[in-house]
Amino acid sequence: MGTLIDRERVRVERTSRSPSETRRLGERIGARLLSGDVLALSGDLGAGKTQLARGICRGAGVPDDEIASPTFAIVATYRGRIPVNHADLYRIGDEDELQATGFPDLVGRVGASVVEWADRFPGALPAERLEIQLAHDPVHPRSRRLVVTGIGARHAALARLLEPRRPV
Ligand SMILES: Nc1ncnc2c1ncn2[C@@H]1O[C@H](COP(=O)(O)OP(=O)(O)O)[C@@H](O)[C@H]1O
Ligand SMILES: [Mg+2]
Repeated sequence: MGTLIDRERVRVERTSRSPSETRRLGERIGARLLSGDVLALSGDLGAGKTQLARGICRGAGVPDDEIASPTFAIVATYRGRIPVNHADLYRIGDEDELQATGFPDLVGRVGASVVEWADRFPGALPAERLEIQLAHDPVHPRSRRLVVTGIGARHAALARLLEPRRPV
């Protein structure tokens, strides 16, 4: 029996028209990132999760040359203003494999976490998180739709950073 908690939720939709715009949106969040924050990225291959993650890391003060593709490493921890754990769950087969990476022990606790393919293991993440779903635009090859949902007061505040009245 879980306790029902009425968490604040903020939903923001945005369109990005280029990889650099996606990175700049990420930078805006990264600049305010705090230890304990959890960013859950989802979307098809090529939707722009890694572009967004790069911007987030840059905004958090991670040197560009530290940011590698974590597809093979599963989890990489970068040293920015705060530690940033960049995880990619694409290749994780099951919960046991996920546990073996040590990531479930870090997320929401040590540093901030940016998780690609977060929707593959939604139960592994804290309920309070910033969900960012990215989708290709069927008409414009360089456009992406971003649906951003902040759950809980802290992540709701992060979602508000992306309100469209704040252009990038
Ligand atoms: N608006 C956009 N935002 C992000 N990436 C874009 C955009 N338009 C084109 N792209 C391209 O799409 C690809 C996104 O790749 P990546 O970020 O690795 O996706 P994912 O991590 O979701 O698989 C890159 O080649 C990038 O140049
Ligand atoms: Mg990726």
